[in-house]
Formats: sequence, C-alpha cells, structure tokens
Amino acid sequence: MQGVVLRKLPRAFAYKQVLGFRSYCTENVVVDIGQPTSASHPQLLKDGEITPHISSEEYILRRKKLLELLPEKSLAIIAAAPVKMMTDVVPYTYRQDADYSYITGCQQPGGVAVLGHDCGLCMFMPEAKPYDVTWQGQIAGVDAALDTFKADKAYPMRKLREILPDMIGGSSKLFHNVQTATPAYMELEAVKKLVYCSNVRDLSVYTHQLRLIKSSSELQLMKESASIACQALLLTMLHSKTYPFENMLAAKVEYECKMRGAQRMGFNPVVGGGPNASVIHYARNDQKIKHGDLVLMDVGCELHGYASDLTRAWPPCGRFSSAQEELYELILETSKRCVELCKPGVSIRQIHNHSVEMLQKGLKEIGILRGAGSSSYHKLNPTSIGHYLGMDIHDCSTVSLDCPLKPGVVITIEPGVYIPSSFDGPERYRGIGVRIEDEVLITETGYEVLTASIPKEVKQIESLLNNFSHGMGMDAQNNLRATSS
Ligand code: GLY
Ligand code: MN
Repeated sequence: MQGVVLRKLPRAFAYKQVLGFRSYCTENVVVDIGQPTSASHPQLLKDGEITPHISSEEYILRRKKLLELLPEKSLAIIAAAPVKMMTDVVPYTYRQDADYSYITGCQQPGGVAVLGHDCGLCMFMPEAKPYDVTWQGQIAGVDAALDTFKADKAYPMRKLREILPDMIGGSSKLFHNVQTATPAYMELEAVKKLVYCSNVRDLSVYTHQLRLIKSSSELQLMKESASIACQALLLTMLHSKTYPFENMLAAKVEYECKMRGAQRMGFNPVVGGGPNASVIHYARNDQKIKHGDLVLMDVGCELHGYASDLTRAWPPCGRFSSAQEELYELILETSKRCVELCKPGVSIRQIHNHSVEMLQKGLKEIGILRGAGSSSYHKLNPTSIGHYLGMDIHDCSTVSLDCPLKPGVVITIEPGVYIPSSFDGPERYRGIGVRIEDEVLITETGYEVLTASIPKEVKQIESLLNNFSHGMGMDAQNNLRATSS
C-alpha cells in the first residue's frame, strides 16, 4: 500500500488507533501485527473481522461454546503450531494449527492460549526482539492479543511460568491440544501433577465437535475455496492436452489457485499419469504422461484457513479407451449414488458400506474381481468413501465416521479403483487408477455439491478436451522439447 508507514506503536497509542481507525488511516499510519488486519489489508478484511470473513463476534462465540462443552473446573491450553525448519535457519512456510487458529485467529507461531471459565481467553504471546524483527518482520504480541484477537487477558511468554501454575492450581482437569503440546507448559510441576493423576486429556474431542458444523461465514469460505480449486483444475484439464507432464500440471493448478486468492495448496497435489494414478497419495509428479493414459489429479487449496479437496481423472489425449471408460463409468455411478445418499442422519460409514457393495458388484461384473472375499477388493480400493472437510483436509479426525451427519457438515465423496500394473487379472485393466472426488455440504433437506462446476461425465470431459484445449503455441513447443529431451 503506497504511503503507508508500518511501525510498532506504544500500547496506549495502538489501542486508540484501533478505535479511531479511520482518522489514523488519513494520517497513513497502520500498525503491523505480523498478519493481515482490516487496517493493513482492507482488500482482504472488513472492519470488525479478525481473519477474512470471520468477525470478532464469531471468535468470541466459538470460545463461549467451547467453554460450555468443557467440564466445570477445567482449563484448556492450546499452543500455536511450531515452526518447522527447511534447512538451518530457513523455515518452511508456516501453517497455523487449526484449533489455535479457530479459537484465537492468530496466524503466528510462539503463543500459548489458555481458556477457562474464570479467566476467559488468556493469551501468552511471544516478544519480538529487534534481531527477529530484522529477519522475520513484526509479530503479534500482547497488544495485538488484546486489541486484535480480543483476548480477555494477555501476557508475554516469559510470564507463563509465573502465571499459568496458579491458573492450573484452581482446576481439576486440563484439556490441551496434544498435536502442539510444548515443554513451555508440559514441564510445569502443576501440569505434571495432573498428568500423574490422569487428569490431562485431549481437547480435540471438543474442538472437533465445534469445528464439524460450519457457520454461514465459514461456509462462504468453503464454497469460495471449492470454487477456486474447481476453476484451477478445469484450466489444468484443458492444459493437459498440450502439456502432458505431471510436474507441469501440478505447477499449473497451483498457479491458478494462487492467482485466484488461495494462500497455499491444501496438500501436495496428486498428479498421477497411467499406473501412478493407482498410488493413492502419489507425490512425485515427475513423469511424462503416455499418450492414451489417464491422469488422476487430486487437488485442493486453502483460502483464509479453509480447505478444498477434489479429484478428477481424464485422458489428456481427449479420448477414453474402452477399458478406461468401463472402470470410469463404474466409479461415476458409485459417486452419483453416494452423493444422493448424503443427508442429515446418515453417516459416512453407511455411505462407505454402500459404496463397497456397489463397487464389489461392479468389479465382479466387469470380470476384475472373481472370489467373494473382501480382501481382493480391498487391494484394489483400501480407502474410505470420504472424510470430513474444513480447516484441515482430513478435518475433525476424532469425530467418528459413524456419527450421523448434520446440516452444516462438509464431507468428501471419493470412490475409486486402483489397479496396479502387476495386477493378476484381465490385462486390459492393468495400470488404471480412477478416483472421482466431490465436496458435499449437508443441508437441512439433503445436500449441495460444492464442486459441481467441474464436469465428470465422460462425454463432457471428452468434449472439453477436444474443443476447448489450449492450442500448442511456440512456448509450449519449446517447453515440450526441453522436457522430453
Ligand atoms: N485428497 C486427499 C485425501 O483425501 O486423502
Ligand atoms: Mn479427500
């Protein structure tokens, strides 16, 4: 932003500045707290939002609901995700832990949040030393905890050893985020005592219960995240005829997602050509796709903390072979039937069981499965029909797949079949992997498919590839020569 001075201001001034935001804007002074705010990034956040689309009221409501779930006289501790190093002092791109983000909105490392019936939200925040600011920039500290994240109390991290034991002293049970547990609090005598009496438990049982049902602002983000991934994958599909290379398709989908506002991919895209499509979480993405082979792409992006996840498989050459089409049609029918089953009261497990019946029957009819035993089926598809989706790709993993679905829950439906090249069955099916994955929102009356804009019918896909693929320009030809030599 032109003419904006980013500098650290004393607390009193910073507080007034938040309240009197507009007048300070005219003076071109904005506090940098190490992450976007409505003052520093008005293109991303409205006034009153802590993170894009999520208001401070919504964060306060989340904390209130979590406190309602927590037993009396208990305390919750959630630490921020640790920084992971790529090499020496150079970190990987930081990704906040979903629970810490859900409760505080803070996207930065180094903090510990404590939630209790008496103290409300108390945030212990890192303090930036001048050296750190030189290398990493400003970070959110105590001021930001109070002014931006609306904590009830905030202290610098160095005070944790002094203050937290007293808070724990008044509690008979401690719930904490096991994923990000840190010695900063685990090594306190007060915590060790509770561990000894088995009074320290995993908080995710409660946070996942809350995160499972999305609010309307969360759904807005989920829908936008899905829409970005659909647009990016569609363009990548059209690109594949000219650039049949796993690495180029991975690059293309990531570029298109980020150009549409995604901060990052939800996971390393799976781009598997031919037999690589049968490796369920294939990550190498380094092979040329043979003419006539299918490519399977499983992709998703993250938009302001909310993930998308979808899969399509298609022949970049523009025509399914008859063996590919037989398998594809079976997966497509299973996908459609399973999506239709989605409604409140039904569980992912029930939908899964239905998919297994359909796929076993279909694979037998095609002649791929012979015996009645389920072990040969599981070799061709060891996956679940789907999972919950939200801030994490495999979201709310402590919620059972037997749990009846409710309105506001988003799940994936992703039937597939993965036939290795070494398959000891009809040769024509060897080395074919197909998965079709859609995102499904459970509504009051049934479902809404959030990824419906990307085609999955054979005829639609062939028509797209043959009539709308990008032409082979000069750059494309040069790139192809460079890659295939
Ligand atoms: N799309 C990644 C997964 O569901 O495992
Ligand atoms: Mn998935």
